[in-house]
Amino acid sequence: MKLVILKNHQAIGSWVSKYLSKKITNFSPSLQKTNFVLGLPTGSTPLPLYRKLIQFYKKGDLSFKNVITFNMDEYIGLKKDHKESYSYFMYQNFFNYLDIKKGNINILNGSLNKRKDLILECINFEKKIEKVGGIDVFLGGVGVNGHIAFNEPGSSMLSKTRIVKLDKKTIESNARFFKGEESLVPKQALSVGIKTIMSANEVIIMASGKNKREAVKSAALGVVGSYSPISFLKLHRNFTLVCDIEASSLLDKETINYFKNINS
Ligand code: GLP
Repeated sequence: MKLVILKNHQAIGSWVSKYLSKKITNFSPSLQKTNFVLGLPTGSTPLPLYRKLIQFYKKGDLSFKNVITFNMDEYIGLKKDHKESYSYFMYQNFFNYLDIKKGNINILNGSLNKRKDLILECINFEKKIEKVGGIDVFLGGVGVNGHIAFNEPGSSMLSKTRIVKLDKKTIESNARFFKGEESLVPKQALSVGIKTIMSANEVIIMASGKNKREAVKSAALGVVGSYSPISFLKLHRNFTLVCDIEASSLLDKETINYFKNINS
């Protein structure tokens, strides 16, 4: 695991945007893999990153023509055009401003009515990931309780894309997007699993702000376990946690120096 500590939220966006655009630009297609495959998050954390990537595209420095995306999660029960659906979020904040091919965008459909169709949606999502040769880079945020995507505490390390029940803490925290009303927050979602994320070639998790400091601490210092799903990523062969000073404020100097030595 690598740890990158930056000044603030904006700096996280700048760092990850530069890193990722290099990866996308340097990608060379092969017989097995014709497109760069990117896993994407929603939430407030990736917004500065998305703005930067749009700027690079507008300047002509970056193209998404050869990029296939898979979003991490989606609420169950919201139509795609609902303002708080992750689908709406992604188009409004990112996809509408890029040259990405619409057919290359994959977002789980949580608006299906029947449970069996939702299950099939999850199975097909995994199949699609496999078909395009797996995910090159999975980008993510982290919840206050250490969740990644909607893999809440208690999630299995072997979990794949599936229906999940949202944790009380997540509902409380996401109520800010639903007029502050917890009752309006969907109680279930579709989410890629820990195994889906662990199978990516590379994972980058971004964490900004004081309320993420426990999650960052569990990733850097805690034991590996489902109490904090981000802690599983320590076992990944290429995992980078990019956080700001506030999010890293529970880490002691020794730990920070340890990671500095590893990174250099
Ligand atoms: C949401 C999403 C996660 C996201 C997390 C953090 O519940 N399901 O994928 O990483 O919460 O959100 P934010 O970046 O707004 O803090």
